[in-house]
Amino acid sequence: MAKIDFKPGNMLYPLPAVLVTVADKQGKPNIFTVAWAGTVCTNPPMVSISVRKERFSHAMLLETGEFVINLTTEKLAYATDYCGVRSGRDVNKCKELGLHLIPGKEVKVPRLSESPVNIECRVTEVKELGSHDMFLAEVVAVSVDDAYMDEKNSFHLEQADPIVYSHGTYYAMGKELGRFGYSVRKKS
Ligand SMILES: Cc1cc2nc3c(=O)[nH]c(=O)nc-3n(C[C@H](O)[C@H](O)[C@H](O)COP(=O)(O)O)c2cc1C
Repeated sequence: MAKIDFKPGNMLYPLPAVLVTVADKQGKPNIFTVAWAGTVCTNPPMVSISVRKERFSHAMLLETGEFVINLTTEKLAYATDYCGVRSGRDVNKCKELGLHLIPGKEVKVPRLSESPVNIECRVTEVKELGSHDMFLAEVVAVSVDDAYMDEKNSFHLEQADPIVYSHGTYYAMGKELGRFGYSVRKKS
C-alpha cells in the first residue's frame, strides 16, 4: 500500500462539534459551533477553543472572558450545523431554532438547556496563533441532564446520543469496542 502526501493541515479527526454560548457585557447572548475545541489539563480542569477574530462571538469572548461549552447530540445535529453557518450578527439563532438558554451557575454566560452537558469556562489566556485565537480556559462548573443519571448516580453520556465531527461530516457514535483498560483486564 502506498502513502499519498497531503499538504500539512488539520487532519486530527474525529472531533467534538460543540455549541458554545457566549454573551456581551450587557448580557445579550449568542451561540456558535466550534470544532477546534480540546481538553488540555485534568487538574486544574482546563479546555481550549480556537476562534477566528471575524466571528461575531469573538468580541464577546474578549469582553466577558467567559463561555459555556454545550455538548451536542443527534437531536442537536441540525442546530450544530446551523449555528456554524449563520452569524449572530444577522439572526437570533436560538429563536430561529427554538432553543432555550438558561443562566449559568458560575458564569454570567447562559447554558443551552437542550444540551446534556454544559461546561462553564473562564478564560485564563488568549493566544493569537494565526487564523485563530486560542482561548485557554479553566472549567468552573459542569452540569449534566438528570435524564442520563442511573440509580447508582452514574452518568450515561452514551444515552444522550452524542455526535462527532470528522472531515466535514457529522456522525452518530458507533458501537462500543471496549472500556478504558479492557486490553489488560483479566477475563473473568
Ligand atoms: C462543524 C463546524 C465547526 C466549526 N468550528 C469552528 C471553530 O472551531 N472555530 C471558529 O472560529 N469557527 C468555527 N466554525 C464556524 C463558526 O461556527 C461560524 O462562522 C459561525 O457562524 C460563527 O457565529 P457567530 O458569527 O455568531 O459568532 C465552525 C462551523 C461548523 C459548522
